[in-house]
Amino acid sequence: MAITGLPLAVHPTSASSSETLTSADVARIRQDFPALHQMVHGQPLVYLDNAATSQKPRSVLDAIDHYYAEDCANVHRGVHLLSQRASDSFDAARQKVQRFLGAAHSKEIIFTRGATESINLVAATYGRKNICAGDEVLITAMEHHSNIVPWQMLCDEKGATLRVAPITTSGELIIEEFERLLTPRTKLAAISHISNALGTVNPIAHMIEMAHRKNVPVLVDGAQAVPHAAVNVQALDCDFYAFSGHKLYGPTGIGVLYGKAKLLEAMPPYQGGGDMIRTVSFTKTTYNSLPYKFEAGTPDIAGVIGLGAAIDYVNAIGLDRIAAYEHQLLEYATQRVSPLPGLRIIGTAREKAGLVSFVMDGVHPHDLGTIMDRQGVAVRAGHHCAMPVMELFGLAGTTRASFAFYNTLEEVDTLVAAIQKAREVFGQ
Ligand code: ALA
Repeated sequence: MAITGLPLAVHPTSASSSETLTSADVARIRQDFPALHQMVHGQPLVYLDNAATSQKPRSVLDAIDHYYAEDCANVHRGVHLLSQRASDSFDAARQKVQRFLGAAHSKEIIFTRGATESINLVAATYGRKNICAGDEVLITAMEHHSNIVPWQMLCDEKGATLRVAPITTSGELIIEEFERLLTPRTKLAAISHISNALGTVNPIAHMIEMAHRKNVPVLVDGAQAVPHAAVNVQALDCDFYAFSGHKLYGPTGIGVLYGKAKLLEAMPPYQGGGDMIRTVSFTKTTYNSLPYKFEAGTPDIAGVIGLGAAIDYVNAIGLDRIAAYEHQLLEYATQRVSPLPGLRIIGTAREKAGLVSFVMDGVHPHDLGTIMDRQGVAVRAGHHCAMPVMELFGLAGTTRASFAFYNTLEEVDTLVAAIQKAREVFGQ
């Protein structure tokens, strides 16, 4: 391949091998991911749709399989051995998430179906209790639907107003506007850590500090952040932090809401059912303590255990090395994609995560994505569940290549070759 061996030198601040991943490390890592070793349309798969969902290492698949094959029982209910084993693995996973996020207590970790449900949980409980007519919820113009629609629904129900902090044409938040929109009426700020459509990394520590100075609690949507950078919720001092397991190399259908214990304790329950109760009678129900108050019914036990295994996997590589390596992939992809004629990168923030969203003159993103798929290159095409962002840029959608630590510089070359092939097909 054209650039084998060029690699990691392309990044001007290229880190040493102990700080990043070498091509040998990546080759070893790739062996852990069965799905990466397949042909699609007669071509080796180049999977560049990691912002939509990432592939799963064998250890995650094994952990799920082990639960179903050996320990399959309900948790926190049975006196028998299988239930105890399942409960131990389930509880251990919560502690892994706690350490992963740097939370003060494991009771601050609530399992949900994903980042979307985590945000809906806060809107339905904290939001319903604390947001009244005339109040405001502040988001940013780069949010995806999960961090827009729950707040819109809440504001509609309560007669509150959704405020949107604007962004620049490069996709950066206009921080002065964010600060200006924090007013005595603002009852919550809900902000993405990293934009899924543009790749922008928001200065969330600074934004949280600004909001707190005005006594505004902050929810951070970390769906795109936790797979790519170390997060410490205590250092950030955020009030809520939401993420999904499936973007973090874990199973689909499992996610996390972190909340400060004081806030979670004061919030009403979310759904009613088993496990979230302490006592039930036909006249009165009393609720369980944290975290169970927010986890009604049998949870996604295999999902939780699989998420724990995914965290072990990522920790064993090290998020700092992952972030450094993915930055190199981003730099290289930007350097190769930008000069392509008729092509424009959407989202050019100074602080960016490993994704490149682009449009090609005269070619619909779906058509571009479809031609690339025929070359074995899996990308996402469309509005990326962020229609307002696309509208801001006057676009129906973009084609997006998003990277994970198992991607290689050679795969970036294949991406570029697939774009060039599409240009030929469309006569651009
Ligand atoms: N929010 C996910 C994405 O960006 C689904 O593709």
